[in-house]
Amino acid sequence: MTLHGTIDLHPAHRVGPVRRRTFGSFVEHMARCVYTGIYEPGHPAADADGLRTDVLELTRELGVSSVRYPGGNFVSGYRWEDGVGPLVERPRRQDLAWHSTETNAFGLDEFMTWAAKADVEPMYAVNLGTRGVQEALDVLEYANAPVGTELADRRAANGHPEPYGIRMWCLGNEMDGPWQLGHRPAEAYAELAAGTARAMRRTGSELELVACGSSFPSMPTFGTWEQAVLEACYDEIDMLSAHVYYPADREDPASYLASAVDMDAYIEAVVATSDHVRAVLKRDRRIMISFDEWNVAASGGDPGAEPTGDDWPEAPRFAESTYTAQDAVVVGSLLISLLRHTDRVASASQAQLVNVLGPIRTEPGGRAWRQSIFHPFALTSRYARGQVLRTAIGSPSVETTKHGSAPLLDAVATWDDDAGDLTVLAVNRSLTEPLELSVPLTGFGDLELVEAVMLHEEDPLAVNTADDPERVAPRPLEGVHLRNGLTTTLPPISWAMARLRTRK
Ligand code: AHR
Repeated sequence: MTLHGTIDLHPAHRVGPVRRRTFGSFVEHMARCVYTGIYEPGHPAADADGLRTDVLELTRELGVSSVRYPGGNFVSGYRWEDGVGPLVERPRRQDLAWHSTETNAFGLDEFMTWAAKADVEPMYAVNLGTRGVQEALDVLEYANAPVGTELADRRAANGHPEPYGIRMWCLGNEMDGPWQLGHRPAEAYAELAAGTARAMRRTGSELELVACGSSFPSMPTFGTWEQAVLEACYDEIDMLSAHVYYPADREDPASYLASAVDMDAYIEAVVATSDHVRAVLKRDRRIMISFDEWNVAASGGDPGAEPTGDDWPEAPRFAESTYTAQDAVVVGSLLISLLRHTDRVASASQAQLVNVLGPIRTEPGGRAWRQSIFHPFALTSRYARGQVLRTAIGSPSVETTKHGSAPLLDAVATWDDDAGDLTVLAVNRSLTEPLELSVPLTGFGDLELVEAVMLHEEDPLAVNTADDPERVAPRPLEGVHLRNGLTTTLPPISWAMARLRTRK
């Protein structure tokens, strides 16, 4: 049986701009993301700063726009000042979030050096778990103040006289979660976040502040947490965070492939809560979402176990998802969801960049390679340009156990007025059936096809490895026709991108 689906769109029907910050990532001091991930002095590809140039190259190729740092759960017990100054003076500490030893060989200055080389905007999280207002002000002074005060002078003495000018700051991490160091009830966190934000704003630094929303939508306090935080912080913040990870479910792939249905509902629930508070407070300004942790968590390979014993290892190997072709399709569809909500999702960070759930994988002293999920991210980041268009999707649906009814076809499109470029991103969630797609292109003028690619493997569980790093990669999508619109056939469990250009 072949399925049929349609995508209706028009260049005048827009959701909002494609935001570069949608293509953010996340580097946490966790497992092997920093150490032997982005930073490995002595590696054959390391530069003079100990940064792995192979990972830097892949980061640039991935099209990452901004990177959140230094955590994550790690930040809620972190003393930022441990990680600056002469290496020999930096203390080793127990990292209570991940039961590891933190050497502090990598800190804020190393991160900013890496961010400049990777050409990404930094997003810095302050510790509102074990610390508070003063620590946030201190790290802000160290990062952003011009020389002439103690901490700015310390930055200069450490070799960085120019202020870093970090704009995006997270007011803690997942403070609703009982696992978080310094976790507290919503009202207590909200008061701390509001006070911290007010103090940080007094510095005059240009800041975009993100308060913690829920750690994931199934948290028992989801909704009430957001409401309490927004009521206390509405005038102080720019964004509220959202986090979610969708674990690959081998037993229920239909639900897994429909994860973006859940992400859509999550975003819309946070928007509704935020706009409710806006109405009650009688404010004009809308609070945006910083979706600063999102990803799939694969079930393949051996991810390694989080340390628990008497040893506190350095850079232990755990949370190393090995991603399948199917995982790449789900990541492509989550990016479709983020783009579809570009009117309210102002920033997003895939978690994390390297090794820990990462699209990039490394071996210590060895190779770096692209995991399957690298590809939909890189292609979407590179070719989603201009304006996100509203799409009306006609599609058969499937009933899923986790997310209810899910359309088998999902899609989004972007239109760049200046270049005359249209990019259509689409997913066929069917486990077994191809889907005949038709996209009437009324209103776009005379378009020609530039390129059509897909991610689809006969074996949806195929993975990339160090020895076979291109096993899962984009392949040409054959049979794309431009007659009375675009028509093609999407294979089962596939993500596809078609790029069209106005004929000159
Ligand atoms: O990304 C891994 C962890 O997941 C982060 O440290 C935490 O914020 C989240 O729960």
